[in-house]
Amino acid sequence: MGGGRLAEKRVLVTGAASGLGRRIAERFVEAGARVLLTDIDGAAVAAVAQTLDQPAAPLDVTSASDWVAALEAARAAFGGLEVLVNNAGIGPGGTVEETEIETWRRCHAVNLDGTFLGCKLALPLMRETVARDGTLGAILNLSSIAGVIAAANMAAYNSAKAAVRHLTKSVALHCARTGGRIRANSLHPAFIDTPILDNFALPGLDRAGVLAKLGRQIPLGTVGEPDDVAWAAVYLCSDEAKFVTGAELYIDGGISAQ
Ligand SMILES: NC(=O)c1ccc[n+]([C@@H]2O[C@H](COP(=O)([O-])OP(=O)(O)OC[C@H]3O[C@@H](n4cnc5c(N)ncnc54)[C@H](O)[C@@H]3O)[C@@H](O)[C@H]2O)c1
Repeated sequence: MGGGRLAEKRVLVTGAASGLGRRIAERFVEAGARVLLTDIDGAAVAAVAQTLDQPAAPLDVTSASDWVAALEAARAAFGGLEVLVNNAGIGPGGTVEETEIETWRRCHAVNLDGTFLGCKLALPLMRETVARDGTLGAILNLSSIAGVIAAANMAAYNSAKAAVRHLTKSVALHCARTGGRIRANSLHPAFIDTPILDNFALPGLDRAGVLAKLGRQIPLGTVGEPDDVAWAAVYLCSDEAKFVTGAELYIDGGISAQ
């Protein structure tokens, strides 16, 4: 293995066919990691993985059996796992009154249950790996600034992402108690230009107009780019952050400073 900030890290990323998960996987590979790219869209993620010369596996994060199979694929490809990035997510809008119970449940199933299952099912393999190989591990959960600051029209998403934030702290404390070689942190981006923002259709505005309008809500005056999140992920999953656990990093252009 060569050098790099993530040299010798074996990684599983969920939702890696698109947006932030894809960019995180790309930056991780550049930094020397080996990455198993996973997504509910197995064909799309296989195509992305091929461009990076890395393995891929289909993984619906709401399915425990998919998790078991993907973790077996990581073991088969890499012999172990140090890093888990729980990135897969969906972002339905709607006020509490508009939100159908099916939408509420699906939002929590993907964003929250998917993160829970990932932490629960990956930790045994991660603990085994770091103990055997003397490496350090990390879990990174994609929450959102919406998990900290509410909006009237994001009831389900606000709830699910707030829960991801707090779950991460519980996971961090559990990992600290059980060997201390694995950390867990959450990331909280504001609007980042990925396909998830296609949900923000506004009457009379094309996509560029929507992004400009969203950008005006941010002190730095613009929406973010996938790399703004990916570089934070590189840091938090590397041993540079070996004393950082249970932390929440805001990547929000200053929204939460107001
Ligand atoms: N882009 C933003 O503005 C923003 C801001 C804050 C937080 N986030 C969070 O970042 C994460 C990534 O979002 P993105 O912007 O890249 O969105 P995206 O829509 O571009 O990508 C999400 C990926 O997750 C996959 N996915 C959806 N449901 C899945 C499931 N059940 N199992 C596995 N994969 C599934 C999709 O196929 C897709 O490839 C999400 O958790 C999102 O909530 C995004």
